[in-house]
Amino acid sequence: MSTPFYITTPIYYVNARPHLGHAYTTIVADVATRYHSMRGEKVFFLTGTDEHGDKVVRAAKKENLSPRVYVDNISRLFQDLWPELNVCNSAFIRTTDPGHMAVVERVLQKIYDAGDIYFAEYEGLYCFGCERFYTERELVDGKCPDHQVEPETIQEANYFFKMSRYQNWLIDHIRSNPDFIRPERYKNEVLAFLKEPLEDLCISRPKSRLKWGITLPFDNNYVTYVWFDALLNYVSALGYPDGELYQTFWPAAQHVVAKDILKPHGIYWPIMLKAAGIPIYQHLNVHGYWNVEQSKMSKSLGNVIEPLQLKNVYGQDAFRFFLMRDMSFGLDSNFSEASLVQRINSDLANDLGNLFSRVLSMVHKYCQGVVPAVDPSAEMECEFGLQADALRAIEDFDRFMGTFQFHNALAAVWKFISKMNKYVDVTAPWELAKKKASRRQLDAVLYNLLEGLRVISGLIYPVMPDAAAKMQKHLGLDSDTPFFILDQLRTWKAIPAGTRLPKSIVLFPRVEMTEDAAKAGGQSETAPTVPVIKPEITLEEFGKIDLRVATIVDAQRIPRAKKILKLEIDLGKKRTIVAGIAEIYSPEELIGKQVIVVANLKPAKLMGIVSNGMLIAAVDDSGVTLASLEKPVAPGTPLG
Ligand code: MSP
Repeated sequence: MSTPFYITTPIYYVNARPHLGHAYTTIVADVATRYHSMRGEKVFFLTGTDEHGDKVVRAAKKENLSPRVYVDNISRLFQDLWPELNVCNSAFIRTTDPGHMAVVERVLQKIYDAGDIYFAEYEGLYCFGCERFYTERELVDGKCPDHQVEPETIQEANYFFKMSRYQNWLIDHIRSNPDFIRPERYKNEVLAFLKEPLEDLCISRPKSRLKWGITLPFDNNYVTYVWFDALLNYVSALGYPDGELYQTFWPAAQHVVAKDILKPHGIYWPIMLKAAGIPIYQHLNVHGYWNVEQSKMSKSLGNVIEPLQLKNVYGQDAFRFFLMRDMSFGLDSNFSEASLVQRINSDLANDLGNLFSRVLSMVHKYCQGVVPAVDPSAEMECEFGLQADALRAIEDFDRFMGTFQFHNALAAVWKFISKMNKYVDVTAPWELAKKKASRRQLDAVLYNLLEGLRVISGLIYPVMPDAAAKMQKHLGLDSDTPFFILDQLRTWKAIPAGTRLPKSIVLFPRVEMTEDAAKAGGQSETAPTVPVIKPEITLEEFGKIDLRVATIVDAQRIPRAKKILKLEIDLGKKRTIVAGIAEIYSPEELIGKQVIVVANLKPAKLMGIVSNGMLIAAVDDSGVTLASLEKPVAPGTPLG
C-alpha cells in the first residue's frame, strides 16, 4: 500500500476576510501535497474555518447579522478563494458541521470519564481579544502582548483540563522525536516554555457569557473553549474514530501553522491527543510571518494584502512562485510588490521563459518542430554533464521539499535552469546548424535541451502546476498522463523521437509596475503597463508607410560595433540595411529569415554604412524581437 500523507492548515477564524498570510499557509500545504503525490503517496489535504467563540459573535454583531448567517458568508469567501489560487484541498471542514461537533462532544466525554477534567472556581486575568486567561508572566508591561490591552480580572467557575499531568511526557516526546516540531527554533521555543510548570487549561465558557459554541456533554450550562473545539477538526474531518479516512491517514499527519499559534499546536494539541488515547501526529511545521513594508499586516494600518487582487494581476503561478521562493520557511519575510515583479521578470520571464522559447524555436527552426532522434555516437560527445546536473537537481529538490525547505528546493531547480542556459551558449546550436557535418551534434544538443526542459517542468509542478502542464504540452507529452512523477523525471530519454511539437509560447510575460505602485512601495493597485497609444492617424497617412516583406540573404557583424548588424535583404531587388539587433540575433540565425521592413524610410548613415530601410520589431526590457509572417511569401510583397 502506498504511504499515506495527511496535511492540514489551521482552520481560519471567520472574523476577517482571507489575506496574504492565509494564502501562504494554504499554498504551502498545496505545494507539499502535490510534491507527495509526485512521490506516489496517497494524499489528503485539509483546510477549513474556525467558526465558534466570542470573536466571531462580536464580528457578527458589528455587521448586524446572526452568527449563523455571518459565519456562512465568511466561510464561503475562504472556500471560493482556494480554487482561484489553484489550491486543491481534499476537504473543507467547518467547526459548525454537525459531524465535527459530535466528535468534540465524544472526546470531551472520554477525557472527562478518564478523570482529566475537573470543575473549579477560578479568578484570573482574561483577555477578551484572545479569549483566554493570561498568567502574570505572559503579559508584557501588564498588557496582552497581542492586543496591547490590560486584561480584566474575572472570576468564574469553570472546567479545567489537567495538562500539567502530561508535561513530562510531552518533554520526553519532543526530545525523542527531534523533528516533531520543525524548524528547530520552534522546537526550542516550546521546550523553553515547558521548563516552567504548565498550568491546567480552562476549557469551558459559561453560557451566561457565550452561547455560540459546542455545549459540554457533561454540563449543559457551558460551551467548549474555542481552541479545544478547533484543534479536534484535524481528526473529526477524517471521521474519527471509525471513518475510513481516519484509519488511512491518522497519525500520518503534518500540521502547518505560523508561529502565532505554536503553543496550542505544540502543547495543548499533543496533550489532548494523549489524554484521549489518540496517537500523536507526526510533525508540526511552523513558518514565520509575512510583514508588509516591515510592519505587521493589519486592518488599522490599511496594509492588508488581498491574495485575489495579486493573482488577478500577476497570475496564479507567478504569485505562488513568489511566495514559495521569497520566504525561507520558518523565518519572517517582507512582502513588497516590487520584489514580486522583480522575481517574475528575472526568474520566470528571463531565466525559465527565455530558455523554454529559445529551445523550442530552435527545434522548429532546425528540425521542423519534430523531436530529433539521437545518434548514440553524438550523445556522449554533446552531453557536458547535463544529465548529472539534472539528477542532482532532482535529488536536492526531493530532499528540500520533504523537509519544508521550499525556497531551497526552488533554488536547486533554478541552478539547473542556469546550467541549461549555459549549455545553450556553450554548444551554440546555431553554429552546429551551419555545417552538414555537425548535424548529429545539433540533434543531440537539441534533444538534451528538450529532456532538460522536461525535468524542469516536473520540478516546477508543485509550485506552478499550470506552467508545468503548458511546458509538457509543448514538449509533446501526453496531457492525460502528465509526467509529474518523480521517478519518471529520473529517467533520461523519455520524450520519443519523432514527436511533433506545437509552436512555442510565452510562458511568463514580463510585467511592470505602474509608477504609482512603485512609489507606494507596491501597495496600491497595479497592472502591467503598456506604452501610451500614439495620436490617431488617418488611413491616408498610414498608407504613406510602405511596409514590405523581405528575405535576409546575408548578415554580417561590423567591427567595433557590438550592437549592430549589416544585412543584405531581398525586397524584389537587393538592398543594404543596418539593424541594432546584434545582441539578440546571431548573423547565422538570420540568414533565410523573412522580416518586415519599412521600405520608404529616408536613408540614414550608421557606422559609416547607409541603411535603406528599417526592420519592424517589438522592443521591451528583454530586447528586440523581430516581426515575421505566419508563412513564407514572395520577397517584396506589400503589407497593409
Ligand atoms: N482559528 C485559529 C486556528 C485554529 S487551528 C486549529 C487561528 N485562525 S487565524 O485566522 O488567525 O489564522 C492564523 C494562521 O493564519 C496563522 O497561523 C498562519 O497560518 C496564517 N497567517 C495569518 N497571518 C499571517 C501572516 N502575516 N503571515 C503568515 N501567515 C499568517 O489562529
